[in-house]
Amino acid sequence: MSYDVVVIGTGPGGYVAAIKAAQLGLKVAVIEKRKTYGGTCLNVGCIPSKALLHASEVYEEAGHSFDALGVEVSKPKLNLEKMLAHKDNTVKANVTGVEFLFKKNKITAFTGTGKVVAQGKVSVTSEDGKVEELTTKNIIIATGSDVAGIPGVEVAFDEKIIVSSTGALSFDKVPESMIVVGGGVIGLELGSVWSRLGTKVTVVEYLDKVLGAMDGDVSKHFQRMMEKQGLAFKLGAKVTGVEKAGKGAKVTYSPVKGGDAEVLEADVVLVATGRRPYTDGLGLQEAGVALDERGRVAINDHWQTNVAGIYAIGDVVKGPMLAHKAEDEGVAVAELIAGQAGHVNFDVIPSVVYTQPEVASVGKTEEELKAAGVEYKVGKFPFTANGRARAMQHTDGFVKILADKATDKVLGAHILGYNAGEMIHELTVLMEFGGSSEDLARTCHAHPTMSEAVRESAMATSGKPIHM
Ligand code: NAI
Repeated sequence: MSYDVVVIGTGPGGYVAAIKAAQLGLKVAVIEKRKTYGGTCLNVGCIPSKALLHASEVYEEAGHSFDALGVEVSKPKLNLEKMLAHKDNTVKANVTGVEFLFKKNKITAFTGTGKVVAQGKVSVTSEDGKVEELTTKNIIIATGSDVAGIPGVEVAFDEKIIVSSTGALSFDKVPESMIVVGGGVIGLELGSVWSRLGTKVTVVEYLDKVLGAMDGDVSKHFQRMMEKQGLAFKLGAKVTGVEKAGKGAKVTYSPVKGGDAEVLEADVVLVATGRRPYTDGLGLQEAGVALDERGRVAINDHWQTNVAGIYAIGDVVKGPMLAHKAEDEGVAVAELIAGQAGHVNFDVIPSVVYTQPEVASVGKTEEELKAAGVEYKVGKFPFTANGRARAMQHTDGFVKILADKATDKVLGAHILGYNAGEMIHELTVLMEFGGSSEDLARTCHAHPTMSEAVRESAMATSGKPIHM
């Protein structure tokens, strides 16, 4: 059987590329080694974590916020088994959704390990060792990423006591204590889930701030909010050892600025120190496909590798490891293969941390603008001054917009607040169209909405807000 496109990997990058290519009239096959489609994101990443984030937020609200709204309920009782079942059902609905879309778009799906044999040739090895060879005009590598671990530190993940994000989605009882190594996105999302369910969480982070690349202002406020919620932080602390100890585990860390090593013990340890591109067993070396200095598949601006007809997208190539970045690359590469003009604007890729409150951002941070010597102005508006936020008791946080001092063009936007991940998109569209803060400030917004704070922030950038 011969195809126009064979996609290896069915995460958000791979499955979207396959669907788009099929929609454009190409004959498409996908290869997936998991039993279900959707990759890390749908099976053990974005989707299950969001199910737990939501459920644990509702549990927390029922225990703490209902009363003030005049809703009197008895103390909420956690049924962890049911909460985990909700997570599993959410995953199931999503992965079967992808299966349905493959069928609908007449995409042939193979279960097994895909390997690039040569230009135009891919093999699939199924679980029972049977090997099948496919011929194709184009290959898209979309194999994603895997847990990176801690460079130079042996971490024996058992996914019960010493866990990666995968194990942290499935504890069968609420741990009394948890150490999170890495104050990045995974550490704070999953740390806050278990903290809300009753775990004492301590985050140990190498940098002197959480959420490394986020705007410094946002990161500082966010950390304070997390501390109020009960998470403890050890910043500027380099973890040098993670080992089992007694019934739990211990983490050894040294202050980055120097000083004696310290040891923390807890029931469980979540190691969330980043992810690495996943190319194991893909046969890239034999096929002559080059990697870059960080082990990612090397590509040009059109996602082409050094071998003609072989493309790569998503976490396995350069750029932020985000599902939606992979999806956009999937669409673009399918369009390019079909002879159209596929493109991704890497300057306008939103990013969201799904804690409560959420942190959402798009474009440049203040630190980046300063470093680039760009003259900018800042407009900020707090949710405490927003009527809808007050009505919903979600007044934590603010909107911050950064615009070019001379032209008023919006260069970056950062929202810390309830549902920030939904609100960021009007700024994303604005930036995609090269809009100014005055454009946004003059756009009518429905009242009462939290999005009015976004508009007021734009008013603050280009002039004065009304409600402050
Ligand atoms: P991350 O890169 O966000 O954070 C890892 C943190 O670990 C960094 O702050 C780093 O300084 C720290 N670290 C590294 N070595 C250390 C050591 N020896 N001691 C102490 N701290 C150390 O990585 P994370 O959270 O594992 O996430 C992996 C990827 O998945 C990221 O690229 C992230 O963007 C993506 N992701 C995105 C989500 C979202 O968009 N909501 C959700 C979950 C993951």
